[in-house]
Amino acid sequence: MTDGCGRITDYLRLSVTDKCNLRCRYCMPCEVERLSHHDILSIEETSRICAILCDLGIRRIRITGGEPLVRKGITELVQRLSEIDSAPAIMMTTNGVLLADRIDSLIDAGLKSVNISLDTTDRNAYARLTGEDALQDVIAAVDAAYSSGMRVRINCVPIRGINDDELVKIAMFASDRAIDVRFIELMPIGCANAYEGISSEEVRSTLTKAFGEREWAAEGGTGEGPAVYYNLRGFCGRIGYISPMSHPFCSSCNRIRLTQTGQLKPCLYYPDSADLRKMIRGGCSDEDIKKAIMSCINNKPAEHGFGSSSPDHDNRQMFQIGG
Ligand code: GTP
Ligand code: 5AD
Ligand code: SF4
Repeated sequence: MTDGCGRITDYLRLSVTDKCNLRCRYCMPCEVERLSHHDILSIEETSRICAILCDLGIRRIRITGGEPLVRKGITELVQRLSEIDSAPAIMMTTNGVLLADRIDSLIDAGLKSVNISLDTTDRNAYARLTGEDALQDVIAAVDAAYSSGMRVRINCVPIRGINDDELVKIAMFASDRAIDVRFIELMPIGCANAYEGISSEEVRSTLTKAFGEREWAAEGGTGEGPAVYYNLRGFCGRIGYISPMSHPFCSSCNRIRLTQTGQLKPCLYYPDSADLRKMIRGGCSDEDIKKAIMSCINNKPAEHGFGSSSPDHDNRQMFQIGG
């Protein structure tokens, strides 16, 4: 599928729930309005839409949330997505708290890789940031996922006054295992507006002070998504930077999003979406749904509007959009 700006769309971010077992302060308010069971796409509805999207050229599906592992039937969903004829790669972004015990069944179902969110290695700071004393569970998940042979990456969002003293320790996860550690610039969405993100430039300079000038040239980038990766001499994993604020990557954006309520969103920033739930529940054929998807992708905006004074941004929060 090619969008109106000539970009190929072959990657789906699939948000399967807006629920989460944590309350990261920059992401999710303590009190949130609950969606009713009926609002949320069933596993069957989700699988049908994904199969249609794969027929149109989606090659990779990243399952997100909220927290995907709190969604009932998630393993069955992974299994069904893996069984789609075109065999898309199935990946997941998770906070890791519930992952360690479930890694084997997820792999059996067809999960190929996990991105695990970890903003601090300090037990008390983790509990303050997320509302749960669960750091040990996340570390156990990183170990279990890595030992399973799966591709593992760590996501860290550097925030002033929250984890700015922890970045070197987080980077060390890439030191003796092939785990990529990515630092993500905070996007001003919902709760995040109350915090000050740290730029990739500043993180690099902090790491350079700690490790010396050991970074090798950037490799990859667009082929693999928004991160730009660097090798650090002596490290097994890579250090990646995702810089939506300082270096927007919209010109190479290959992705669309499906929310848990069946809205197909061509861009994380704007509210525009196609209501695929209404279509499937209204009895539309696969061909009708394909037309709606193509039209939605054709109208995908050229770039996000973070940092502009544009009032037309989505009011949904990160845990509802899935990142
Ligand atoms: P792959 O491309 O599948 O490797 O994954 P990813 O790194 O994009 O996925 P992940 O879920 O780990 O997201 C990492 C960060 O990138 C999160 O903060 C996402 O919100 C952000 N992100 C992912 N896609 C986009 C995008 O299209 N636009 C913007 N602005 N941010 C994105
Ligand atoms: N900006 C950037 N990244 C964010 N995440 C959550 N909220 C934001 C934000 N405002 C990250 C999480 C997780 C990934 C899905 O998105 O930490 O790693
Ligand atoms: Fe939950 Fe992820 Fe948001 Fe943290 S960042 S509250 S783990 S959805």
